[in-house]
Amino acid sequence: MKILITGGAGFIPSYLAEKLAEKPENNIVIVDNFLTGRKEKIPTSKHNNIKFIKCDVNDFKDISSVFYAYSFDFVFHYAAMVGVKRTQENPVSVLEDIYGIKNVLNLSKNTGVKRVYFSSSSEVYGEPVEFPQNEHTTPLNSRLPYAIVKNVGESYLKSYKQEFDLDYTIFRFFNTYGPKQSKDFVVSKFISSALNNKDITIYGDGSQTRTFCFIDDNITATTNAFYENKFINDVVNIGGDIEIPILDLAKLIIRLTDSKSKIIHLPALKDGDMTRRKPDVTKMKQLLNKETIPLEEGLKRVLQNTSFII
Ligand SMILES: NC(=O)c1ccc[n+]([C@@H]2O[C@H](COP(=O)([O-])OP(=O)(O)OC[C@H]3O[C@@H](n4cnc5c(N)ncnc54)[C@H](O)[C@@H]3O)[C@@H](O)[C@H]2O)c1
Repeated sequence: MKILITGGAGFIPSYLAEKLAEKPENNIVIVDNFLTGRKEKIPTSKHNNIKFIKCDVNDFKDISSVFYAYSFDFVFHYAAMVGVKRTQENPVSVLEDIYGIKNVLNLSKNTGVKRVYFSSSSEVYGEPVEFPQNEHTTPLNSRLPYAIVKNVGESYLKSYKQEFDLDYTIFRFFNTYGPKQSKDFVVSKFISSALNNKDITIYGDGSQTRTFCFIDDNITATTNAFYENKFINDVVNIGGDIEIPILDLAKLIIRLTDSKSKIIHLPALKDGDMTRRKPDVTKMKQLLNKETIPLEEGLKRVLQNTSFII
C-alpha cells in the first residue's frame, strides 16, 4: 500500500508513520515544510520503507508533483498550523490551511486515492454545550480560525464524498501527549518548566479541565480504524475521558519530577480557553479493545524520554 502522511515531521504524524512502517508491505511518503516539525522526528533511519519529501501542502504545485509521482492508495492529512499561541497570533496564516485541505482532496480524487484520513480537533466543538461531547449530537461552536479551518476541512471531506464518492474518516483529536510533542502544548510545556525548576504558568485559576490521551492510544485507535476498515465516512473522537483541572496537572507534574517550580497564575485568556472538554469515547473504545493508559503512567513514559522537551 502506498500511503502519504502530511506533516510527518511532527509529533502525532511521525508516530503514525513509525507504526505503519512496521508492515514492510506499506510504502510511506512523508511530506512536511518544517513549520513546527523537526527532521529528527521523522523515523526514516529506523525504516527503509519511509521516504521524506520537503513540501508545502498549501502550495498546489509543490504537493501535486508528489501525488502524480506516487499514486497513493491512502492519505493521512495531518499537516496543520498548530499551537494556541501561534494560531491566535497568525490568524490569516492559519486560514491558509484551507488551501492545503482542498489540494489534498482534489489530488486524492484525481489520482485514485481510496480514502483520506483527516486530523480534526476537539476545538471544533468550541465552548461545548453538552458532556460528554458526542460526534453527532453535540453542536459545533467553532469560532477561532484554527477551529473554523478544522470545521471547514470536515465539511470538505463530507462534500467530496457526496459529490465525488471519495471515502474519508475524520478523527477529532483531543489533547494528546507523548515524548516527541513540541513545547507548544500544555503537557510538554509544564514538563519542560518543571525539569528546569522554572515557574509553571497557568491562565486563570486553573480550574478549566482537560482530558489527556497518551500517544500510543491515539496511534493504536487510528491504525486499527485503518486496518480494520472501521468508521468509513464517519467521525471519531480520539482522546482520554478522565477530566483533570489544569492546576492539578501542574501539581502532578511537579510531584513526578520532584521539581522546585512554582505555579504562577496569569490573567485568564479572553478567547479559546474552554472551561471543560470531555469526549464521548464510545467509538474509540471499539477501536482500542483495551484500557487507556492512565495519565500518571503516560507522564512517567514521557519523563523517560525528554530529548525533544528540554
Ligand atoms: N496534539 C494534539 O493534542 C492535537 C489535538 C487536536 C488536533 N491535532 C491535530 O493533529 C495534527 C498533528 O498535530 P501535532 O500535535 O502532531 O503537531 P505538530 O506541529 O507536531 O505536527 C504538525 C506538522 O505539520 C507540519 N506542517 C504544518 N503546515 C504544513 C504545510 N503547509 N505543509 C507541510 N507540512 C506542514 C509541521 O511542520 C508539523 O511537522 C494536526 O492536524 C493538529 O491540528 C493535534
